[in-house]
Amino acid sequence: MPPTYAKELRNMMPDQLPAIHMPGQKVPELLRGQKALVTGANSGIGKAVAIALGHAGADVVVNYVRGDEQANEVVEATTQFGAKAYAHRADVSSESDVRIMFEKMISTFGTIDILVNNAGLQQDAKFEEMTLQQWQTVININLTGQFLCAREAVREFKRRGVVPGVSCAAGKIICMSSVHEVIPWAGHANYAASKGGVMLLMKSIAQEVAPYRIRVNSIGPGAIRTPINRTAWETPDAYRDLCRLIPYKRIGEPGDIARAAVWLASDQADYITGTTLFIDGGMTLYPGFEAGG
Ligand code: BGC
Repeated sequence: MPPTYAKELRNMMPDQLPAIHMPGQKVPELLRGQKALVTGANSGIGKAVAIALGHAGADVVVNYVRGDEQANEVVEATTQFGAKAYAHRADVSSESDVRIMFEKMISTFGTIDILVNNAGLQQDAKFEEMTLQQWQTVININLTGQFLCAREAVREFKRRGVVPGVSCAAGKIICMSSVHEVIPWAGHANYAASKGGVMLLMKSIAQEVAPYRIRVNSIGPGAIRTPINRTAWETPDAYRDLCRLIPYKRIGEPGDIARAAVWLASDQADYITGTTLFIDGGMTLYPGFEAGG
């Protein structure tokens, strides 16, 4: 490609490109009769996923750690079309909190079919200034939290096995990862390390439990419009810079992730395990190389 054309392409802004139309179809009822737990479900991606799973027919546990009111709003939205849901406060990095959360879910809903390991946070710092506390907080929530919840889920999936008519699989785990499981991220070493860890945690569990018909996959979101990354999209200048990194030239919306999560958790995706589905408008296509290399 002639370099000048490539540069033009990268710098093209959303207002010079085709108008954005978001998908308008209703979430299909792919999860009727299934029980799901979504961690970190009171805002952002987790909230959208919990609501979509409920609209797809699953009963949902809305896990959160702070913000009772927000969690109750998510419960209300999730149950809008008849699914059951309740909010459960638990710190996913605490072994006892996680154990209690699963015990309560199994006594309330009978079992678990779908775990969405979504809870996560960022604590950004220049590498030489990053404190041990910042490192450990991010690893504890983003990586150890996924381990603890996945372990409880696998125990229940194996105990119960496949229930024909509910799902072809004994259970499904979706790990919320990031494009930063493969794209290094200066100033975010703790976060990128946690997501790189999630990638091989997910694949190693997937390999181990596949014979029991348990599917384990990740979703790797790019830049999604959530409170966690507000500074990247809030001002017009920030949004223009962000769009240089996104070939599809729009920020992702939480609904982009939620629709895919419903599908990946459903039997429509039954032969898929051990994979990361990047939902990033092409961010992992390394758009910086359009005009170089
Ligand atoms: C981060 C966002 C960031 C995106 C793309 C995500 O994993 O949570 O803050 O905008 O990656 O860099």
